[in-house]
Amino acid sequence: MAEVITLPGLIDLHVHLRDPGQTHKEDFYTGSSAALAGGFTTIVDMPNNQRLITNSELLVEKISSAKSKTVCDIGFNFGTLGDNLDQFEAIYDKVVGLKVYLNITTGGFIVDKPKLAEIYKAWESDKPIFLHAEEDVSDLVTSTLREIERKTHICHVSSEDELKFVMKAKEAGLPVTCGVTPHHLFLSDKDTERLGPYANVKPYLKPESDQKFLWDHLDAIDIIESDHAPHTRQEKESNEPPFGLPGLETTLPLILTAEAEGRISRQQLLEKLHFTPAKIINLETNPETKIEVSMEEYEIKNEDLKTKCGWSPYAGKKVIGKIERVNLRGQLVYEHGKILTQPGSGKTIS
Ligand code: DOR
Ligand code: ZN
Repeated sequence: MAEVITLPGLIDLHVHLRDPGQTHKEDFYTGSSAALAGGFTTIVDMPNNQRLITNSELLVEKISSAKSKTVCDIGFNFGTLGDNLDQFEAIYDKVVGLKVYLNITTGGFIVDKPKLAEIYKAWESDKPIFLHAEEDVSDLVTSTLREIERKTHICHVSSEDELKFVMKAKEAGLPVTCGVTPHHLFLSDKDTERLGPYANVKPYLKPESDQKFLWDHLDAIDIIESDHAPHTRQEKESNEPPFGLPGLETTLPLILTAEAEGRISRQQLLEKLHFTPAKIINLETNPETKIEVSMEEYEIKNEDLKTKCGWSPYAGKKVIGKIERVNLRGQLVYEHGKILTQPGSGKTIS
């Protein structure tokens, strides 16, 4: 019998559950089920729904829909293109943070660069601004932060240059954190040939030299975020494959496999998947929210996944760490592949 370990419920600050608007890809029930199956008990959803979540009515509607469907705890980010600054006051207490896209990705909700400073000025909250900011915009981010200090999280650093930028910003005392995705740790541009359109993701998969830099500087990276971004196979195989990979169910086993290989320590795992994400969003965690994981080896199979998209870039890969049981605030909500709780039993957080 393989050893069974107990870990605190994991926290993922970066998922796209596609609800409302694109529930053929995922919805609050299937996405939060995938979270539990992957050992995540709290997730934070991004605002790039088919219609960007830019006003308080859209946000309230989205939260109320999530309340009736979600099986893990969930928080939300607000969206902006810089033309809804008057909405901020009304939504501070309903969200975990603000998401700003400075590069092109799914939905096309990219902000005009000169608007960034206006957005920063208007966001009068201690809650973080989550930035999609690839290396080409790092100077803009630094100059904005020097002028207006707001708690900022740089999502999905994927290259040596991006991580170096964050390291420099931290050295300069700017209030910055950053996250890395499992796909930038476990896949590189070499996998693009094998995975074809399924590898299309923003930021793009990078050369192995970048990947090595990320692994060599894990302590400079605050959190691991799945950037769970499901699209259907049909969409991925179309002429214009959208950006994004599902990740909720494969993140922990990939990291535990890396731990078994001596590439990451248990303490680093706990910091990046639980303690630091909680700190970034000021979340009070519950000691009765925990997961049990069997340290057995198994193969990732598409047919075992709960995500509605039904595929993983890691299908066929052997990993260590099967999530056996999930307790949410003392209640057994997941066991051996089955969701044991009703839609709507998750709590919304802000
Ligand atoms: O590849 C990506 N997909 N990157 C993002 O930043 C967004 C995401 C999505 O929503 O599909
Ligand atoms: Zn994302």
